[in-house]
Amino acid sequence: MNKMLYNNRIMERENLINIEDRGYQFGDGIYEVIGVYDGKPLMLDEHLERLERSAGEVKLSLPGTIVDLKSKLEELVAANGLQEGIIYMQVSRGSAARWHEFPASDVSPVTVAYTRAEERMSEIEDQGATAVLTEDIRWLRCDIKTLNLLPNVLAKQKAVENNAIEAILHRGDLVTEASASNVFIVKDGELFTHPANNFILNGITRKKVLQLCDGLGVKVNEKTYTVKDMLEADEVFITATKLDVVPILKIDDRTIGTGEPGKMTRQVLQAFRTLY
Ligand code: PDD
Repeated sequence: MNKMLYNNRIMERENLINIEDRGYQFGDGIYEVIGVYDGKPLMLDEHLERLERSAGEVKLSLPGTIVDLKSKLEELVAANGLQEGIIYMQVSRGSAARWHEFPASDVSPVTVAYTRAEERMSEIEDQGATAVLTEDIRWLRCDIKTLNLLPNVLAKQKAVENNAIEAILHRGDLVTEASASNVFIVKDGELFTHPANNFILNGITRKKVLQLCDGLGVKVNEKTYTVKDMLEADEVFITATKLDVVPILKIDDRTIGTGEPGKMTRQVLQAFRTLY
């Protein structure tokens, strides 16, 4: 895993961060995390499309084309001989003297990417996990995958301190998503998930699950639901890159449904596994 992508070059991994990189100082940049299964990045086009959208929303012009970036990322996976794991990539607005406003137009964005080997999460996907609840204190553009993740970091830390896999976020009564995943509930044979608006990141896994449900004939409602609805749901699961689909069996002290992974969650997980 010792090769990295730095702008347009695959090179030995080393620490090249400039202390005035705007990603480092302001979180002024965007990122993607892409799962790699059997040596192949999963849904790479969809991740790169989202990267392009995030760039547009923060007025950052990506250096080079998405097609070039795609082939560089594939080259990186091959150079590192990665079979199972993730690609992390980010594009910051570049390095310049620290002033809040955008730097002069001759400052170029900085792209970095590296890979990390990770086992598949099959056991946790089959067995399920627990979650905690916490208030969603993020800004109002959660649809952009930016480097500003401090509220997500604090929420995930709360989960870990409570031996939980995730922190499910709510704004007042309404469930939005989780610190690094999207949330689905099952009620009376139908799925519910927060609509893809500014309050959530429209997960690539989430979108794929919606497509798969279409094929399975499962009705999905992209509608908001309350914390109470979730705690009283028959099933709850989360989706994210590499975690895929994880049943949530308990939230804080409350057991969800039977306390076992539910039928619909298992059906969705099984369908997802046919993708790799
Ligand atoms: N996070 N919501 C948030 C806030 C996320 O950070 C993520 C993913 C998701 C799921 O998106 P996707 O299905 O595209 O991975 C939803 C990545 C994995 C991370 O930050 O590590």
